[in-house]
Amino acid sequence: MAQTFKSRIDAATRELRNHNQEHVLQFVEQLDRSQREILLDDLEQLDLNLLDRLIEEHIHNPQPFELPKRIDPPQVYPAKPASDLESKYRQALDRGENLIAEHKVAAFTVAGGQGTRLNFDGPKGNVPATPVRNKTLFRLFAETVLAVQRKYNCVLPWYIMTSRANHEDTVRTFEQNDHFGLNPGDVFFFRQGMMPCVDTEGKLMLASPESLAMNPDGHGGSLRALFRSGAIEDMARRGVEYISYFQIDNPLVYVVDPLFIGLHALDNADMSSKAVVKAEPLEKVGNFALVDNKVTVIEYSDLPDDLAYKKRSNGRLMLEYGSIAIHVISRSFVEKLNQHGFSLPWHRAFKKVPYIDKTAHLVSPENPNAYKFESFVFDALRLADHSIILEIERADQFAPIKNASGVDSLQSSQQLQIERAARWMERAGIKVPRREDGTVDALIEISPLFALDDHELYDKRRQLREMKAGDIVYLG
Ligand code: UTP
Repeated sequence: MAQTFKSRIDAATRELRNHNQEHVLQFVEQLDRSQREILLDDLEQLDLNLLDRLIEEHIHNPQPFELPKRIDPPQVYPAKPASDLESKYRQALDRGENLIAEHKVAAFTVAGGQGTRLNFDGPKGNVPATPVRNKTLFRLFAETVLAVQRKYNCVLPWYIMTSRANHEDTVRTFEQNDHFGLNPGDVFFFRQGMMPCVDTEGKLMLASPESLAMNPDGHGGSLRALFRSGAIEDMARRGVEYISYFQIDNPLVYVVDPLFIGLHALDNADMSSKAVVKAEPLEKVGNFALVDNKVTVIEYSDLPDDLAYKKRSNGRLMLEYGSIAIHVISRSFVEKLNQHGFSLPWHRAFKKVPYIDKTAHLVSPENPNAYKFESFVFDALRLADHSIILEIERADQFAPIKNASGVDSLQSSQQLQIERAARWMERAGIKVPRREDGTVDALIEISPLFALDDHELYDKRRQLREMKAGDIVYLG
């Protein structure tokens, strides 16, 4: 046994030396046996050849992004169908609802991010997000899953991707809250992969004497983690065919959208996306484009201004649609990728990464000091044979919580949640008090258990009360 342990250390030392990274063993003599095990676990999971390549390509010798030679606007299903599409949308809605009712759809939340911009202590899913009851994102989505199960008399299994830093806290949150009323057997947690951070010289960093500084490998890591964790196998056992992918930080997302799922299924797509019309040509969102006949997302940072402003003959922007990170993914697509092998491009980000210095003293830098490597889920679109895009109204489905204040903050998200609830109330015939500038003069929250969408609220219109300025309304 001791021999095995020693030979593991020796092998790790050799490997690290071959890649000029042996400095991460500098405290190994001071570690006890269990601490060494922890360090070895990290080291044995490293792909040092890949890391060498990333350090060369992204740090020592970075190449400018090469724009594809030919970029066309992609086809997009409009938010409101013209008459020639109306019957297809009706058929898609029907198909999507049947697929949900037949247990062929799963909800999938990526919640492994570090949420550094928000600076919230704990998993982002624990952020109190709703405007009246301050429900956490986990509770809100759990209630939505429950509401979908009741509406369609089905089981909607929910898969949640975590990462090393927040897995235990996430699972504990669900356990302490009785899984928010869901059957624990239908909620599946799994961890995503990790990538090591490196300093500006391309050197690995230690977070403590026995652990490397690592970051989750990006939401693109979900496509591998779904497979490796057994989540895909679990889906296959249940007969799930379609995965409704969304991020933890968007309280307005439709956890499952029958129209979107139905269009994806009718068109035999592998991976599909929702899109919004960009607020302005340079908006900081991924841009949908068609490259080599494949739907592709070009990041705003890679988009030259002239292309961002380029117009088509009909006067509309060539790249007028932005990505909001909502997808439907076929289970068969994830299986195919993993069974045949695939890789997504790695993107680097320069971030603040705490580390220990040569004296084992913990340093929390005030400015970015290290590179993280991540892959992005939308890069898998290029690997799909078929992919559709559905335009949606931004204000109806997108209110992300990213920053501690200002744009895309908890405050702006709650305002958007109130505005959507107000529009649903107005469609149900209620006069909502508004200030002179048009903003809603009340706090309104509609639980998904009361209404999943404006149609359900309309059906319950007789239960709604008149409102006056300053009211706090919770429909639950
Ligand atoms: P963001 O790109 O906004 O990152 O993630 P973040 O980690 O939440 O926040 P910052 O950038 O550190 O401030 C978008 C979504 O993708 C998930 C996040 O949890 C969020 O739902 N994500 C991101 C992962 O699941 N894993 C990752 O490695 C990165």
